Amino acid sequence: MCGIVGAVAQRDVAEILVEGLRRLEYRGYDSAGIATIDQQNLLVSAKRLGKVQELAQALQDSPLSGGTGIAHTRRATHGAPSEVNAHPHLSSGNIAVVHNGIIENHEALRNLLKGFGYEFVSQTDTEVIAHLVHHELKTGDTLLAAVQKTVQQLEGAYGTVVMDSTDKDRIIVARSGSPLVIGYGLGENFIASDMMALLPVTRKFAFLEEGDVAEVTRFDVNVYDINGDSVEREAKEASVNHDSGDKGEYRHYMLKETYEQPTAIRNTLEGRLTGTELNIETFGNGADDIFKNVEHVQIIACGTSYHSGMVARYWLEELAGISCNIEIASEFRYRKSFVPKNSMIVTLSQSGETADTLAALRLAKEIGYTSSLSICNVPGSSLVRESDLSFMTKAGAEIGVASTKAFTTQLVGLLMMTLAIGKHHSMPLVQQESIAKSLLTLPNKLEEVLALASSIEDLAEDFADKQHALFLGRGDQYPIAMEGALKLKEISYIHAEAYAAGELKHGPLALIDAEMPVIVVAPKNDLIEKLKSNVEEVRARGGLMYVFADVDANFLSDDTMKVINVPHCDDIIAPIVYTLPLQLLSYYVAIIKGTDVDQPRNLAKSVTVE
Ligand code: AGP
Repeated sequence: MCGIVGAVAQRDVAEILVEGLRRLEYRGYDSAGIATIDQQNLLVSAKRLGKVQELAQALQDSPLSGGTGIAHTRRATHGAPSEVNAHPHLSSGNIAVVHNGIIENHEALRNLLKGFGYEFVSQTDTEVIAHLVHHELKTGDTLLAAVQKTVQQLEGAYGTVVMDSTDKDRIIVARSGSPLVIGYGLGENFIASDMMALLPVTRKFAFLEEGDVAEVTRFDVNVYDINGDSVEREAKEASVNHDSGDKGEYRHYMLKETYEQPTAIRNTLEGRLTGTELNIETFGNGADDIFKNVEHVQIIACGTSYHSGMVARYWLEELAGISCNIEIASEFRYRKSFVPKNSMIVTLSQSGETADTLAALRLAKEIGYTSSLSICNVPGSSLVRESDLSFMTKAGAEIGVASTKAFTTQLVGLLMMTLAIGKHHSMPLVQQESIAKSLLTLPNKLEEVLALASSIEDLAEDFADKQHALFLGRGDQYPIAMEGALKLKEISYIHAEAYAAGELKHGPLALIDAEMPVIVVAPKNDLIEKLKSNVEEVRARGGLMYVFADVDANFLSDDTMKVINVPHCDDIIAPIVYTLPLQLLSYYVAIIKGTDVDQPRNLAKSVTVE
């Protein structure tokens, strides 16, 4: 989605802002722009269609000076990608605005402002904010008061930043539905839509809450809540590294993040298991009491996070003996659902800012869910702040749009949640210990799986000319097949679908021929013989299969089947183990197809609008 960076400093800030935009590139965008207030108190700006590098080049040719500035990467919603529609948007030569989100009543506001004599140059919804602030300033208000009055008139979602060249030592920021973080420096302060943008200049951050408006100057940050009352938003040291935004030796972030999974899981396990005993307070204060009283779990998520929730349903019902539903957030939020007694809502999200998931959590609280838990990778994100309990996955910054390490660490969090709930239900101690032991073997097991990369790279050649692919799995591997299919379509643009293998005969078998590669995930579990029968169904129809099979499961390569032997692992961790070969397969297919692996077309890393 769009990215925002802003600064109030004594030094020139254009380079800091552009570096911030570079660090937000992974979120997806089509144009970039910047505005600063120069030494003559004039608003100066530059915009470019395309990459941040184009903007950086433009600034090299004509530098912008000034210690107060805002910058933005835009992803078109209202109006095509173009320089004129790129942010910042200006009003009357002194007001500049950047905005993430969508102003739903922009038409009405546009007509109102035209009536006041304002002329619009862009097709964006954002331009109304610039003119509204200018209009409100006419009554002699301060910039802060003018922005407060402006946001009261906006409907929809926004994270917005405003500056005024006649009042150059401050920027005003407002948040409603689109995240904003304040970065604290020494004699300088910053704002951004994602703290990743500011890691080169500060590690101290405070997150704005819904409805907050803040005035940021070089020495002060004053935050006002939705009622206009002065409030404190605690600033904390960030735990992410400055270099999380670097690819290092890897060609793509996705590959780097795939290889980081053993470490990400070690970090996620660290301090949570003492021997085989789970530290339940890692979920938050009072977690044990909440888990004791839970009688039903409703999981809500989108995309890849939804797939991890699907795996968790198998775990919770089979191991913890508690009923569990899983639903896509965008569906849950728009239907009337039945809330069983003592139900907990569990939201899963890498970013913690996915608009549909956040709306679903808010709805769940309204309709009577007793407790809430978020499993998330971004500390301080909205889902974490708005949930009773949280489990932070320690995957580190995930930059590639295609989620990898966030997914596998989420699964670790979900397995720990299963232990925490199971202990109060039907899970015997010996089983709790055995699951904990399996979890501890996981990082090393994943390192063994990553060693299969070159054989998987060879396999990927077969997919270069394919238009479609079918993924099959059974039981808790069915969601892993779905995740494999999502990865392949996201980054290689090959149409891929996943089926529970037992479903083949009910329709998908009609698709099988030599042009339809069939990818099968086959750990040696109690469904392996059933899965082998499904494999025979495909073989009998002339299908060509690619089987990721447990080394002991007796699958042999022949004319109809290429087998990659996966090291044996405990059943419970198999969904995590079998995810990695599928991530590698989609990566290498995308490399052959020459697609933009880290920023696939039409996709954004964090979907903060509906
Ligand atoms: C993952 O590869 C996708 N890019 C996407 O499906 C993602 O998982 C989804 O948008 C949910 O995001 P979240 O985990 O940040 O909520």
